[in-house]
Amino acid sequence: MPQVVLRLRPRCFAARNLFFVRALSFGTVAPAPSQVRPWPGLRSWRDAPPNESRSWGSHGPSPSPPHDPIAMPASSLSECAATVLSTADPLTKSRLSHLAYSRWCRREIPVGSAVPPARPARPEKPLLVPPKEIPSHKSAGLPLNAYMLHNLAHVELNAIDLAWDTVVRFSPLREELGDEFFADFARVADDESRHFSWCSQRLNELGFSYGDMPAHNFLWRECEKSSEDVAARLAVIPLVQEARGLDAGPRLVQKLVGFGDLRTSYIVTKIAEEEMAHVAVGLYWFLHVCKKMDRTPCATFKDLLEEYGVELKGPFNYTARDKVGIPRDWYDGAEKQEGRAKLSEARNTQNFVHDRLASIIALERNNSEMNC
Ligand SMILES: [Fe+2]
Ligand SMILES: [Fe+2]
Repeated sequence: MPQVVLRLRPRCFAARNLFFVRALSFGTVAPAPSQVRPWPGLRSWRDAPPNESRSWGSHGPSPSPPHDPIAMPASSLSECAATVLSTADPLTKSRLSHLAYSRWCRREIPVGSAVPPARPARPEKPLLVPPKEIPSHKSAGLPLNAYMLHNLAHVELNAIDLAWDTVVRFSPLREELGDEFFADFARVADDESRHFSWCSQRLNELGFSYGDMPAHNFLWRECEKSSEDVAARLAVIPLVQEARGLDAGPRLVQKLVGFGDLRTSYIVTKIAEEEMAHVAVGLYWFLHVCKKMDRTPCATFKDLLEEYGVELKGPFNYTARDKVGIPRDWYDGAEKQEGRAKLSEARNTQNFVHDRLASIIALERNNSEMNC
């Protein structure tokens, strides 16, 4: 019975207390508190009005051309979340996300509560396969830039659902978490919906569509694991999955520049920049929950990853991770930190030089075209 399930949900907090007791009984002793420096952009991210730049114009984000109106018959943010999760068409999912967040910002709807679907609705295409069966770009029949963009579009589509699932799944904990928790994750969902919209538009410009090659269901499986525990959800999704996005962003940009697709590289650069807020907001709420549980964040984070079988894989983008405030000892062996930091610094310098060269080449190309 859904209502019983919902009534039981607040036990997540009780469950977390159980987790706390269990962790103590395992003899987990927290190390000295690691320093967390919150991301300075969090306040302005939260205070910004809904972002209407859902298209990618000739020079960057731009407002979308007018669409047919879209309806969302839901009377709370949680119901909106459940509706988005139950919507299979990716662009409709994206537009509904924006509509839901805009309604929230206009104070038209409360957080409320709803029953989340067991899993999000998906379109017929792409075919979902195990990660090992994802074809290479050559066997998928897509050029490298479209292949990378398709993978990113898939990540963004999943990210919409992950954020809305966090809203609706933990809505029974509204008293404990407060409305700002739900506002933050609704804003994350809105950001992700804009990212998907940009990727989808660019794929179309390149002559492809989302669904043109198989994709995997790994991201949702990670989300499912943490459905019962808000601390685990925050650890597994924003602090691991989204943080992996910070690591991967500059490499992706570099490959796109190397391929010669500067327009897509600008889109990915913008997305990577906006992803920082999602990790930062996850960290903010993880710290908040740990405080309520009277737990040390670093030890709790590590315990949860072990309990849920989540692996941390480098190479890490230390610069971005430092900016959003994740202390290095949460994710990296202390003995490796110094050497890796130097390597990261060298890579950043290399990336900068590479980007400068790419800009110069593009300028030269434009000049020579104008002179023809
Ligand atoms: Fe995103
Ligand atoms: Fe994100």
